[in-house]
Amino acid sequence: MKKAIIIGASSGIGWELAVQLAAKGYQLGLMARRKDCLDKLAASLPGDHFVQTTDVSHAEQSQGELTSLIEQMGDVDLIVVNSGVGNKERVLDWVVEREMIDVNVRGFAAMSLTSMNYFVQRGTGHLAGVSSCAAHFSAGITPTYNATKAFASNYLNGLRSRAARSKLPITVTTIEPGFVETPMVEGKPMWLAPVEKSVAQMVNAIENKKDHVFITKRWRLVALLLDIMPNWLIRKFM
Ligand SMILES: NC(=O)c1ccc[n+]([C@@H]2O[C@H](COP(=O)([O-])OP(=O)(O)OC[C@H]3O[C@@H](n4cnc5c(N)ncnc54)[C@H](OP(=O)(O)O)[C@@H]3O)[C@@H](O)[C@H]2O)c1
Repeated sequence: MKKAIIIGASSGIGWELAVQLAAKGYQLGLMARRKDCLDKLAASLPGDHFVQTTDVSHAEQSQGELTSLIEQMGDVDLIVVNSGVGNKERVLDWVVEREMIDVNVRGFAAMSLTSMNYFVQRGTGHLAGVSSCAAHFSAGITPTYNATKAFASNYLNGLRSRAARSKLPITVTTIEPGFVETPMVEGKPMWLAPVEKSVAQMVNAIENKKDHVFITKRWRLVALLLDIMPNWLIRKFM
């Protein structure tokens, strides 16, 4: 039986990921802050699963909780670091911005690092991190969210290079979604994709041990344009 941990499983993409991985026979470890949601999810899935609450903004405590969950599960093949917040940035409010840095940067790095060290010690494994197409968008009106996702994508790239140098069969998959229909997204932005379709593409990328995937695929074009366009030109379209 394959085993996976999903960090940020209580809602949206993480919830649907749990549904689709459980349907493929995975035993899951489900992590997030909201225990009631995690318990409800675990009860709705086929098979027996583990629940571990965590607040990744308390990075060191979360690292301990992840390690403890790995020990409880005995062996883990796949860890998906999906937890994230996308706060509104209509005004630059430090408390609001800091939460994104705490969760999307410090929490993300702490969870990814603990996962990588576990896989190195285990000799093999798969880390998947949910970043965003926002990683390519430095001229937008959500500077902190974009910067946190640029950190996530860059950090995963670095971990992938370390894994390659180690010669161990460790896969690192960077997932960069555009807009996915979850509680994080308000209204109907461009190319909003159903969560089921988006997560099916993520699962496919994980199963095929891809280094990198855009969700949905058309966002590759947007990322490419954002990478090559000068900021003054991007600002003209804002
Ligand atoms: N939806 C999109 O269009 C979109 C696009 C690009 C990237 N993403 C990324 O996809 C990931 C999932 O987002 P989503 O759209 O599924 O949003 P969501 O429904 O709001 O889910 C966010 C998940 O992160 C968890 N989380 C938030 N803060 C946490 C904390 N301090 N500690 C532990 N877990 C925490 C939440 O659990 P608790 O609240 O229970 O802790 C929840 O499970 C995020 O990293 C997001 O940035 C989403």
